[in-house]
Amino acid sequence: MKAKVNGIEINYELQGQTGLPIVLIHGFGLDHTIWMDVASKYLRNYRVIMPDVRGHGESDAPEGVYPMSVMARDIAHLLGFLGINKAILCGHSMGGYITLAFAEHFPEQLAGMGLITTHAGSDSTEKRAGRYEMVEAIQEQGSIALAESLASNLTKDQEIIQEVTKIIKKTSPDGIIGALKGMAERQDRTHLLSEIMLPSLVVAGEKDEIIDVETAQQMAEGLSNVTFLKISGAAHMPMLETPEELGTGLLTLIHRVKDELS
Ligand code: MLT
Repeated sequence: MKAKVNGIEINYELQGQTGLPIVLIHGFGLDHTIWMDVASKYLRNYRVIMPDVRGHGESDAPEGVYPMSVMARDIAHLLGFLGINKAILCGHSMGGYITLAFAEHFPEQLAGMGLITTHAGSDSTEKRAGRYEMVEAIQEQGSIALAESLASNLTKDQEIIQEVTKIIKKTSPDGIIGALKGMAERQDRTHLLSEIMLPSLVVAGEKDEIIDVETAQQMAEGLSNVTFLKISGAAHMPMLETPEELGTGLLTLIHRVKDELS
């Protein structure tokens, strides 16, 4: 399905018409399909919204930088388009950066928050420089440059590597570049954590080579109403590597939010 929001067309998948709305936001270079298994098996009783974020999947990929706050506004406008006042947002990696930007700019639309293999800090100098090198590689070689460097860092599961490689190769080069620059320039949102009183879930993958367990744990320690879930069988992609553990964790978050709303 498509919605014209915030000046671009956003593609999204919907599951369920009723129940508490939950938005699942994929990470960098990926698309909404990474959530389909978890959503259909564990979130059947809820209204699940799975967007392709700006520049990814079937959504528009305008040229330019994609600040996390603009990507958060895309989600806020999508919720408005769907007539939803409040939702739980669960973001994976870059989706987590977007979720934290949403918490900063649209707190009245947020009912709870899932932060999955992500963190609240900004880029180190080295990480930022790496992103601009990747921008050049994408300009020269296209999206395959990202597929080749990122896919095998996301997970060690060969089938999942193949699946994510296919998704990344299809991602628009302009979309990848916009997100790289947006992530490179994003601000540190650690200060925000102590202001968030909503039920939150932080998920870390014990084998994650992109965001280590300690970094995720530090973020969880900054939040006051939080559950920390460390998944031993997961690296960076628990929705594909360990769907049962992640699905169960998301259900627990939903129940905590429902308890607070009732
Ligand atoms: C992601 O999975 O969204 C990215 O690896 C996050 C990042 O590069 O910081």
